[in-house]
Amino acid sequence: MMAQATFHFPKGFLWGTATAAYQVEGNNIHSNWWRFEQEPGRILEEQRSGLACDWWSGRWREDFDRAAEFGQNAHRFSVEWARIQPAPDRWDESAIDHYRQMLRGLRERGLTPMVTLHHYTDPQWLAEMGGWESDKAAGYFEKYVAKVAEALQEYVSLWCTINEPNGVIAHGYFVGDYPPAVKDVRAGFRAGANLVRAHAAAYHTLHKLQPNARVGIALLSRDFSPARAWFPLDRWVAGMQFRSVNEMFPRALADGWMRTPLGKVHIPQASGTQDYLGLNYYTRDLVKFDLTKPSELFGHRFFNPSAEISESNFIANEPERFYRLLKWGLQFNVPMIVTENGVEDSTDQLRPRYLIQHLHQMWRAVNMNWPVQGYFHWTLVDNFEWAAGWKMRFGLWELDTATQARRKRPSADLYAEICRENGISSEMVARYAPEISPVIFPD
Ligand code: FCB
Repeated sequence: MMAQATFHFPKGFLWGTATAAYQVEGNNIHSNWWRFEQEPGRILEEQRSGLACDWWSGRWREDFDRAAEFGQNAHRFSVEWARIQPAPDRWDESAIDHYRQMLRGLRERGLTPMVTLHHYTDPQWLAEMGGWESDKAAGYFEKYVAKVAEALQEYVSLWCTINEPNGVIAHGYFVGDYPPAVKDVRAGFRAGANLVRAHAAAYHTLHKLQPNARVGIALLSRDFSPARAWFPLDRWVAGMQFRSVNEMFPRALADGWMRTPLGKVHIPQASGTQDYLGLNYYTRDLVKFDLTKPSELFGHRFFNPSAEISESNFIANEPERFYRLLKWGLQFNVPMIVTENGVEDSTDQLRPRYLIQHLHQMWRAVNMNWPVQGYFHWTLVDNFEWAAGWKMRFGLWELDTATQARRKRPSADLYAEICRENGISSEMVARYAPEISPVIFPD
């Protein structure tokens, strides 16, 4: 037996999906990633973004139709700096107009837009000047943001300046699998400080133009737990990794101090520049203290052996840790928006369960009166997944890259029911993921 009930979310809750320009538009030839893709060994099986989901030729229309027809009321997407400013002294008004049309398209379909200004990619010209390590980067970003804000402010007031600044430096400078792909921790923190300066400049620019703007970042959030809870060094290393990944950026935006393991940097203009905290949450790691791994901050990380693991080993399904991350986010005293959450799953075996379990934890958080205001599932349609190419399939819709045909996965229907109901019912769970019914709706 299980209880018959519905877990409701507050009125006005934002339900959408998240996308990023480079991953869906296609032919982003002025971007540093376009070059990066052509270097041998960078992308899995030498795959290419190519046409991606072909949004630039207009397929955003059919995908926005899907989002609206399937009950969503919001959409998070990004604008591509390299299109808008293909050279330092050149603005492409037609690209700006393209984004204006997309925003109108969202509004016409009743979808509230959230616009990300930087989602992993840089103009190639910026990369050639030294990218985020250059002290000029923040100034260029500020001008770009002013240009975009003036053109698009009529349609959008919810802005995300930088997607995963912590991911940009982790991938670009520590792991080295995204551009500039150097393993240089010191350069990484220098770039990180410039990302904070860029965010701060964007924050002030947006607020000057648009006093009611809501501006924040989307943080790569990840949980870390000691592999052996009884062992003090595991506890220490897990705590240190948790803080390094999750706290450096939002703290800098709160008090203007960027605290890195190599020392602290004062960026006073960044203090108080966070109107909401955006969280991209996917998974957690267990961490074992390991002296032989200085480059991994002395921690050997692995997934909880008892957790379900996703198709390509990218995610351990750890919904309760999502609740913990939301609780952790309370300290910043701003509303929270879940800017990404999802799982790669081409056959949609795990996704319905993963989705319900995470939304259930978010519902618990909301019912503690924690100010969570929206949820953006990653993602609408399978898209170009960076160094993993087309291997990881995160879409509610499947994409055939040869024909551009979309095919709906069952999770698209499930998510539509949740969005329309503004809640999760026992009856939905019984239909889409009966195996978890007794846990989510115990009698
Ligand atoms: C996040 C990125 C997003 C996508 C998902 C799977 O880290 O922001 O672009 O790659 O992971």
